[in-house]
Amino acid sequence: MVVNEEPKASILIVDDEQSLLDICKEALTEAGFTVHVAHDGPSALRMLSHLPGLDLVISDLRMPTMSGLELLKKLKDGHSEADFLIMTGFGSIETAVESIRLGAADYLPKPFNISHLLLKVERILQIRRNREDRKKLTNIVRVLNLSQAMNTKLDMKSLTNEFLSQVQKNFNPDGVVLFLQDNEGLQSKAMRGSLLRNNPQLGTWVKLLGERVFRQQLPELILLSKKGPPQLSTEGPPPDASITSIMAAAMPTRMKSVGSIVLLRNTDKPDFTREHSQLLNVFAAHTASAFENARLYGQLWDMNLEVIRSFAQAVEAKDVYTRGHSERVAIYATHLGNRLGLSKEDLHLLYTGGILHDIGKIGIPDVILNKPSKLTTEEFTVMQRHPELGRAILNQVTSFGNILPIIFYHHERVDGTGYPMGLQQEEIPFLARILSVVDSFEAMTSDRAYRKALPMNVVRDILQEGAGQQWQDDLVKIWLEEAEKPDFKNLRQVNVTGHVEFQDVVDA
Ligand SMILES: [Fe+2]
Repeated sequence: MVVNEEPKASILIVDDEQSLLDICKEALTEAGFTVHVAHDGPSALRMLSHLPGLDLVISDLRMPTMSGLELLKKLKDGHSEADFLIMTGFGSIETAVESIRLGAADYLPKPFNISHLLLKVERILQIRRNREDRKKLTNIVRVLNLSQAMNTKLDMKSLTNEFLSQVQKNFNPDGVVLFLQDNEGLQSKAMRGSLLRNNPQLGTWVKLLGERVFRQQLPELILLSKKGPPQLSTEGPPPDASITSIMAAAMPTRMKSVGSIVLLRNTDKPDFTREHSQLLNVFAAHTASAFENARLYGQLWDMNLEVIRSFAQAVEAKDVYTRGHSERVAIYATHLGNRLGLSKEDLHLLYTGGILHDIGKIGIPDVILNKPSKLTTEEFTVMQRHPELGRAILNQVTSFGNILPIIFYHHERVDGTGYPMGLQQEEIPFLARILSVVDSFEAMTSDRAYRKALPMNVVRDILQEGAGQQWQDDLVKIWLEEAEKPDFKNLRQVNVTGHVEFQDVVDA
């Protein structure tokens, strides 16, 4: 039976006294450790960059050129994550306390016997292993929570930004490239880090690596500072000598692979470790489904937009006086939602709901719909059926499920005298309350069959008077603030053939 043993710890001993170095090295090597030696602080520091997996530094306190305490300080300043054991020949208790305060794991007074050294080393390494196990667990839990949070994002742009900022926060790379698969193959979807911006050849190199990882579905960790040539197959080394470590992971879902991600670090930072690579792999696998969902959602949205537009045009073909109304209501509603800080998903609902809010008018007789004078009570009762008719029409389309409340409740009033249900205040769905404000505003600021557009000061008075009765008062206040901004007129410049895209509205 083959047993996979844990790799034995790697230790660096620093002492200017050759005989002590020899004794310690022999004993520790015999105990199964991988042992490196340095004769002074500066050469120890130089060695550190070639020993990324180092677990422990055992250093003498008093040495020429750099003391053990100085070496310890440098280590803790980011040169290494190894633990530190200090040997002190003339050690007063103060020096020992100082070394512990600076972050040493323990100290060993000289002279010592070897069994004492081994005991200390084993104890420090045991504590280190426990600490790392805990850290690993915390990291994995954190990464899983992150990917969980990402699964709630359906908009590709914000998902990509969130993904990249999480990668940045958790792996601290100097360069990141995210590749996603589309109809034309694997494409570089996002890139961060000046390393890549300034070196197009490096971009090509990274793309080859991203493609290989995507194809083979195997993560890679490439350490260029390590001895021996790295496994780079056809790519050769990266065309940037400052890069010291690279890791890449594929992004598989149950059905297919959606892409891959490549991270780079340069000489300023310690190399990526095996643990980093494992974490990236878990993270990439868990976020892959979020990217797939966002892609499908985007596809569905594009498809729906066509259907939505044709529906809206059908209404406007009948109701000649409201041409452009729905599109403007959609844009206003999205604008107000944006101002309120609503999610992209809610903004999508407002946009779609805005375009389709009067879809039920398809079922209202033309004579009522296009009557140039005031409606009679009976006619008005018929007209009041349009929210219900709208809901009935859209109910047949599964993907419109979320906008039905907007359609059905857009004529409710917060004082409970609206229709069709007479709901009050918070009983009315929030998005419907938003739509109600901008729907009325748009109607008043546009020409109608029986009247010209009302001037802004009249519209303001009507809205303010109805605040708290017809409309939610703070929504009126915020909307008026927006509508009175000088650049608001840009929002009104809507091409009634429906050429304004949702993205233009959200990004405006
Ligand atoms: Fe309506």
